[in-house]
Amino acid sequence: MIVVAISGASGPIMGIRLIEELLNLNEHVAAIVSQPAGRIIEYEMLLEKAPFSSLRDLLEVRGVAKNFDLLNEYKNNNFFSPVASGSAQFEAVAVIPCSMKTLSAIVHGYADSLITRACDVALKERRRCIIVPRETPLSVVHTENLHKAAQVGIEIVPPVPGFYTRPESVADVVDFVVGKILNLLGRKHRLFESWGE
Ligand SMILES: Cc1cc2nc3c(=O)[nH]c(=O)nc-3n(C[C@H](O)[C@H](O)[C@H](O)COP(=O)(O)O)c2cc1C
Repeated sequence: MIVVAISGASGPIMGIRLIEELLNLNEHVAAIVSQPAGRIIEYEMLLEKAPFSSLRDLLEVRGVAKNFDLLNEYKNNNFFSPVASGSAQFEAVAVIPCSMKTLSAIVHGYADSLITRACDVALKERRRCIIVPRETPLSVVHTENLHKAAQVGIEIVPPVPGFYTRPESVADVVDFVVGKILNLLGRKHRLFESWGE
C-alpha cells in the first residue's frame, strides 16, 4: 500500500496523476487531501465551478483510473485511520505536492494532521517518505527545512521538468514528475521514455 497525500500547494494534479497511475498498476492507495488542497483543487482543476467533494468523484469524472476498490480515502483529521499507526504495513508515503507548511511540520515531528502523522510513522518505522516540495523562490527557512528532510532520509523530488523529454504540454511535465516517483518506488511506467531508450 502506498499513502498519497495531497497538501495545499499549487499542483494537486500531480498527486491525482500519481494516484491514477498507482491504481492502474493494481496498487492499494490510501489517499489524504488536506483542507487547503481541496480548495486548490477547486481553483486549479475545477475552475471554481464545482466544490471538491471527494477524490473518488474527481477520479470518476476524469475517467483515467480503474480499480477504485483499491482506493481508500481518509480525512486529514482522521487519526483513527490505519495509516496513523506503524502497525499498518504501508510501503511509502508520497506528499505530492508538499506545501512549505507541511514540509516544516514533517521535519519537526509536528504531527497534527493525518498527513504529517503518516510521515512521522514512515520516519520512525524506517519506511519511504517522498516529498514533492512546491514553492518558488525558496527562502532560507525553506532550504533549511529541505536540508533537514534530506538528513532524516526523506526523498526529495522537486517538480522540475527534464527538458530532454521534450515536453509539449503541462500534462507532459506533470507525468514526468509522477514518473520520477514511480522510478523511486521501482514501478514500471510509460509516462516518459528513459534516456537512451
Ligand atoms: C491557490 C493557492 C496556492 C498555494 N500554493 C502554495 C504553494 O505552491 N506552496 C506552498 O507552500 N503554499 C501554497 N499555498 C499556501 C498553503 O495552502 C497554506 O500555507 C496552507 O496552510 C497549507 O496547508 P497544508 O499544508 O496543511 O495543506 C497556496 C495557497 C493557495 C490558496
